Formats: sequence, structure tokens, C-alpha cells
Amino acid sequence: MGAYARRAHLPPLLQHPHAEVAALCRRNPARLAEAAAAVGAPRTYASWQDMLRGEPLDAVVVSTPHDLHYEVARAALARGLHVLVDKPMTLRAAHARDLVALAQRQRLTLMTAFNRHYEPPFTKARELLDDAAVGELRLIDAYAAYDWDLWLDPADTRFSGAAAHMLHGVSNEQAALLHETSFRAAAAANGGGFFADVGAHVLDACLWLARSPAATVFAQMDSPQTDLYAALSLRLASGVLCSLACIGDTPVPRDFGFHLYGATGAIHMRWGELRLERELRDPVTFDNAAMPAAGSAAGNFIDVILGRAAPRATAHDGLRQVEAMEAAYQSAHEGAPVSIPPA
Ligand SMILES: NC(=O)c1ccc[n+]([C@@H]2O[C@H](COP(=O)([O-])OP(=O)(O)OC[C@H]3O[C@@H](n4cnc5c(N)ncnc54)[C@H](OP(=O)(O)O)[C@@H]3O)[C@@H](O)[C@H]2O)c1
Repeated sequence: MGAYARRAHLPPLLQHPHAEVAALCRRNPARLAEAAAAVGAPRTYASWQDMLRGEPLDAVVVSTPHDLHYEVARAALARGLHVLVDKPMTLRAAHARDLVALAQRQRLTLMTAFNRHYEPPFTKARELLDDAAVGELRLIDAYAAYDWDLWLDPADTRFSGAAAHMLHGVSNEQAALLHETSFRAAAAANGGGFFADVGAHVLDACLWLARSPAATVFAQMDSPQTDLYAALSLRLASGVLCSLACIGDTPVPRDFGFHLYGATGAIHMRWGELRLERELRDPVTFDNAAMPAAGSAAGNFIDVILGRAAPRATAHDGLRQVEAMEAAYQSAHEGAPVSIPPA
């Protein structure tokens, strides 16, 4: 349970009328005590194995470094607990398939915490695509540019002062928590660099918006172990083509953009804004006020367990993203396109 869990997962769990935060787990005792006091969690654990062994739980949120996702999620499912696991669900497609199969056998809810599935403009874009607002989807052109390299050096002081604006609405306290993280500096052990971490959202969003797994992936990266730059070309199983660019050390404010081209129109998305352009019609611009958020990953997780909602980010979404991510790193290593066999 680290900075992201505290910022994104704990608030909706605490607010949910039918959820109770029973215990928190992390190794740093001072940070653990501080988080437990802040949220009123009755019990704390320094070892996730002890927590799973000793604590009466119904469900867990796994928001650890990427290399722990599979092991912790698997142990929790094996113990009969519902699991919400952060992105990327696992580092290997075989592990993601194993989790999906185990959850099915155990009849448990397994979800991936892809927060774009709850946030505009992504939710609005999906709604428009489902309503055939731009006709049959043909091509997605997407990019994300972040100051992710700041995480690579914990001594880097650019989190405060002149570059603080890059954090876009993140408070100084949250920035300090982000700065504390160390697992991103061990990029290779955590599946790769920027593309495995933030690029997971870009890749997932393409597959989710197109409602299709990837079929062929060709990736070029500056370094397949600790990539800051990745350029990908994908053909999805549905036939949709995707072009993705991930920039992990932007010297200017964070940015992302998605351009979705259909047979009769196009959707253009950036921060908090979506523009719909159609043949022979005036363009329509939606801002955040016209695109309400669809809740949160943790809130949806509880509602799914209770049988009150459908999952907005499923285990299969997690599996598809991991399959395409694994193919991308293999492609970057080999310098050739990699095909993903159909499920
Ligand atoms: N969807 C999004 O937009 C988004 C944004 C940010 C992060 N995330 C995801 O959230 C997850 C956590 O990222 P973060 O940014 O929150 O990083 P973080 O602050 O470093 O959190 C990771 C936490 O895992 C704990 N941990 C590490 N090893 C552990 C172990 N062996 N046993 C128990 N706890 C352990 C760490 O605490 P100790 O060192 O004290 O054990 C730390 O608190 C990642 O999967 C990341 O991809 C998602």
C-alpha cells in the first residue's frame, strides 16, 4: 500500500457504505503507522504473507511494485479473496492467464485498476464509439509524455520548485509521497521503464476503446530494459491499426493525446477535453463538466463483489494489456514484429 493506493484506492473504500478497511500492509513502519492513523485502519502488517495468513478478509487491493503483483494476487485468490490488482496486472502473459483461470475456478472477482475506464474523456470516447458516432473504428493514434524519469533518481529535487507544475494538480504532500517510491528505479525487474508503467494505460486504453486484443505488435524503444521512449505499431484482432508514442522524460508539462479515426468521423482527446468531428456536421467539444466520471476502480470493485455492478476494468482487460506489453518488449529486443496467438 503506497502513494497511489493512498491517493486513489483508500478514499473510495472509506467512503463506500458497504466496505470496511480492515488492515493495511507495507514494510516501512513509520509510513504504515501514519497511513493507518490517517484512515483509521485497525490493524497493520509489515508482511503481506502474514496479513493473508492471519487477517479475516473478504477482498484485497494489491498496489505494490509490479514484480509483486502476480505473487500477492495469486496467494490472495488461492485463499478465497476477491482481488483488485494495479496495472500492469502481471509482468508475464502466462501469469495473467493463470490469475484469470484461478479467479474463474474460485468464482472470485478479479479486476485490474485501470483508472482510465472511470475517467473522462476516455469514458465519453468509449460511449461515442459504442454509439457508432464515428462509424466503424479504423485507426488510433495515441501518445503520452510524462516527467517519469524523475522517479528514477530519488535524489532528484525537480519535484519541487520550478518544475512542480508538471505534476498537474498533485499537492506537495502527494508529490513527496510519489518521490519516496523506489521500485521504478529498478525498472528492468518491474517489467521495463515508462512503457511498462504509464504506457500500460496508453496501451490498455487503445485495446479497451477498440474492444479488441492486439494481434501483432512492432515496438522500438531506446532501451527495452529501462525505456524512456517507445514507439509502437499495432494491428488489433479487430483489424484496427494503432500507433503509440510514449515519452518518459518530457522537459515540458505532462501531456497525452488520443486521435480515434472512424469511417465517418474522428474523436480527438486531450486533458479533460474531447472533440467529436463528423462528416458534414459541426464539430462538438465536450469539457470535463459534460463528461462525468464513472466512479473509481476501488468503488466499482466493491459493487461488483456485491453483485450490484459490472466491472469497468476486467481481469481480461488486464490480460490483454499484459499480452501486448510482453509482445512489445519482445519485439523491441528482437527488432521484429511479434504476433499474439488468438485466445
Ligand atoms: N493507475 C494509475 O494511474 C497509477 C498511478 C500510480 C501508481 N499506480 C500503480 O500502483 C502501484 C503502486 O505504485 P505507487 O506509485 O503507489 O508506488 P509506491 O508508493 O512505491 O507503492 C508501492 C508500495 O508497495 C510497498 N511494498 C513494496 N514491497 C513490498 C513488500 N514486499 N511487501 C509489502 N509491501 C511492499 C511499498 O512500501 P514499503 O517499501 O514500505 O514496503 C510501497 O508503499 C503500482 O502497481 C503502480 O503501477 C497506478
